[in-house]
Amino acid sequence: MSDAGLAPEKLVFDPPVVAPERDLMSKFDPIIAERQALIDTGVTDPFAIVMEHVKSPTEAVIAGRDTILLGTYNYMGMTFDPDVIQAGKDALDQYGSGTNGSRMLNGTFRDHIEVEDALRDFYNVSGAIVFSTGYMANLGMISTLAGKGEYVILDADSHASIYDGCQQGNSEIVRFRHNSVEDLDKRLGRLPKEPGKLVVLEGVYSMLGDIAPLKEMVAVAKQHGAMVLSDEAHSMGFYGPNGRGVYEEQGCEADVDFIIGTFSKSVGTVGGFCVSNHPKFEAIRLVCRPYIFTASLPPSVVATAATSIRKLKHAHGKRRQLWENARSLHSGLKALGFKLGTEKPDSAIIAIILDDQTQAVAMWQLLLDGGLYVNMARPPATPAGTYLLRCSLCAEHTPAQIARVLQMFEAAGRATGAIG
Ligand SMILES: Cc1ncc(COP(=O)(O)O)c(C=O)c1O
Repeated sequence: MSDAGLAPEKLVFDPPVVAPERDLMSKFDPIIAERQALIDTGVTDPFAIVMEHVKSPTEAVIAGRDTILLGTYNYMGMTFDPDVIQAGKDALDQYGSGTNGSRMLNGTFRDHIEVEDALRDFYNVSGAIVFSTGYMANLGMISTLAGKGEYVILDADSHASIYDGCQQGNSEIVRFRHNSVEDLDKRLGRLPKEPGKLVVLEGVYSMLGDIAPLKEMVAVAKQHGAMVLSDEAHSMGFYGPNGRGVYEEQGCEADVDFIIGTFSKSVGTVGGFCVSNHPKFEAIRLVCRPYIFTASLPPSVVATAATSIRKLKHAHGKRRQLWENARSLHSGLKALGFKLGTEKPDSAIIAIILDDQTQAVAMWQLLLDGGLYVNMARPPATPAGTYLLRCSLCAEHTPAQIARVLQMFEAAGRATGAIG
């Protein structure tokens, strides 16, 4: 018997068909080229500054040079408060460096409860929920509150975290013209009566430093049966008789349903929160994905936040000083002839509006070389076509520092043609 039939067959494989790889990163080529072109002009990359040493809330070493900090949101200067620092050190010693878990599982330590108590006391409310950042507080609250078939109505100049909260949820999104009470009213009037509605506002808008006409807007929202959330990230600590925010200053505490805030500005650490008097507020913990599916803040962070918030409640002197600083910088810049984001000092943010990116970068660089750090902001963070240098004041800035800042602005403004 021939064994030919048993000869092993030659195995033939078709060569695999390899689809050409589509590089998902190639869509970023235009922005990479734009950034490179900017750096090729010889300027420092405004978005890659390194604080080599931080000496105080208002001074750091950048590129080996002593620099005045005028772009940090450290409004109340709490980052170097001795009690705040001690609370963080004690918590590190007692509880270790992290929680390793969600608030819903093993991630609630004594000081998470403490900081929520401190917030209830500060805002005089029944409910407080802490998130890992202010970004996540907006993401979580907006996407959880407004569900399918319901509406979020937001200001066109809202912070990215508010927009992202809208995108993460399933609700219908309606935008109104920045700070226009009339447009808010018109757009609410066009919506069907039945579905739930959430109007989202900000006390202070962080790019130009302008404030919202909250009293009128909240009244309009209530006429249309909407609930209101106000993000008071840039007003906590110094706006209103108790430092609660613009909504307190304008007397609408009874009608704002949810307040969003952050620990990364006046509180001087990191974290975010929502406070409310709603009787069912605690249910948010059971349903809000950005609260549940992430690790909680480290014990040292919540301990510093709790101490800072308790001190902020009584920080009347700092509050006065911060407003004094805002007034003197605003009037000084105005007298020099700069175009500013607001007619008067509405907040602790003072924005200088420039012609274009070239002028903004040149001026920013001159200031940095002279020992002053401010934020350079451009679209998409700013409204279309707006290039600005943004100053945020601290209660700890001294009159001598502000005088120096004005001298530097005058020299840089003349050199770049921003002022005559
Ligand atoms: C208005 C507003 N909301 C929320 C946030 C986010 O805060 P956080 O830095 O805690 O994420 C910011 C941050 O700049 C902000 O300006």
